[in-house]
Formats: sequence, C-alpha cells, structure tokens
Amino acid sequence: MQLFLDTASITEIRSMWDVGILDGVTTNPSLVAKEGKKFEDLLREICALGVPSVSAEVVATDTEGMLREGRRLREIHSSIYVKVPMTTAGLRATKVLSGEGTRVNMTLVFSANQALLAAKVGATYVSPFIGRLDDQGQDGIDLIRDIVQIYRNYGVRTQVLVASVRHPIHVLEAAKIGANIATMPYAVMEKLVQHPLTDLGLAKFLQDWEKVPKG
Ligand code: E4P
Repeated sequence: MQLFLDTASITEIRSMWDVGILDGVTTNPSLVAKEGKKFEDLLREICALGVPSVSAEVVATDTEGMLREGRRLREIHSSIYVKVPMTTAGLRATKVLSGEGTRVNMTLVFSANQALLAAKVGATYVSPFIGRLDDQGQDGIDLIRDIVQIYRNYGVRTQVLVASVRHPIHVLEAAKIGANIATMPYAVMEKLVQHPLTDLGLAKFLQDWEKVPKG
C-alpha cells in the first residue's frame, strides 16, 4: 500500500521524503490555508522535492470553473493530480479532465455509490473520508471494504485512496482490506515508525554492548 502525507507543510513533507517512506502528498484548501503561501508557489515547492503524486484541489463549484482550474493546476508540474469534489458538476468536470489525460482525485466521498460514480467518469483516485464518517457514528473502514469489493467485482482501475485517516489502526485496516493508498497527517505517519518495545530493545542492546571488551 502506498503511503501519502495529508499536509501542505514543506517541513513535514521534506522530513518524511528524506526517510524514504513517502509515496505522495494530498493537500486541500484548509491545509493550504495554514501555510500562508500562495497556492501555486507551494505546489511548485512540494513538486520540486521529487514527490511523484501531489493532489491539488480546485475551489470552483461549477464545471467550467473546475475545468479552468484543473487545466491550470496540471500545467504546474507532471506530479500534479487534480482534486475535484464529488458533486454533479465535479463528475462532469472529471469526465472531461480524465478524457484529456489529466489524473483526477475525486474527493469528499462518503458512500460506495459515490465511489462507483467516480470510477465511471474515469477518476484515477477516489478519496473516501473515513475519519469524518467515524465522527458521525458510521464505521469508515466498512466503506473502504465495500468500495474495494465493488471495484474488484468489476475490475475497476480507479485506486482507493483512504483519506481522513486519524490513527495507525485506520492504516492497518486499510492495508488488510487491500486499499491502494492511505493518506495521513504527519503525526500518524510518525506513529507507524514507533513501538515502545523497539526503544526498550535498542536501549538494552546498547547497554549490553558496553560490556563487550573493546580494543
Ligand atoms: C484528503 O485528501 C483530505 O485532505 C483529508 O484526508 C481530510 O482529512 P480530515 O478529515 O482530517 O480533514
């Protein structure tokens, strides 16, 4: 499963990119707003790091506006995936953009039927938001299970990008189901690395190493 960071922070992206475990980045208007930089400048900076998949969201709500923004975003860098919301206007825009060879990430997906529609219009990624479903008292992971099964039933090529991930169990469950990608905040990715027994084990090994005769 590919691991993406859900952030627009250059510091966070650079830090995980240097570790070598990062496959991509997803941004959204709220994440971009936190950085205090111009959107396109920020995207250029992220892409310049070498990240192969960078999702950048349109903010227009009508099809024509989405097409205009999507075409502009895709020109910024070959790593850009255009993020389009799951609305009727978004479906129309995705159909056209996909037809032009633009890779589209359909976002704000909360049902399996919406995921089915995203596949129909040729989206490269579909982004179901599982944490926000959990917040509403609906199990977000169940949605991932349904989408993966439906896509397998019909040999759909759209990749399932598990979004709104809140903790490492979300990542684990998504991987067990066979989702293609999970995008997560920096803090969650850090937790994937850590285990208290690793720290304890390393401390003990180093302590014992002191007893080995040297020289
Ligand atoms: C996905 O692309 C979104 O940016 C993101 O995962 C939303 O997550 P949130 O529910 O934590 O805001």
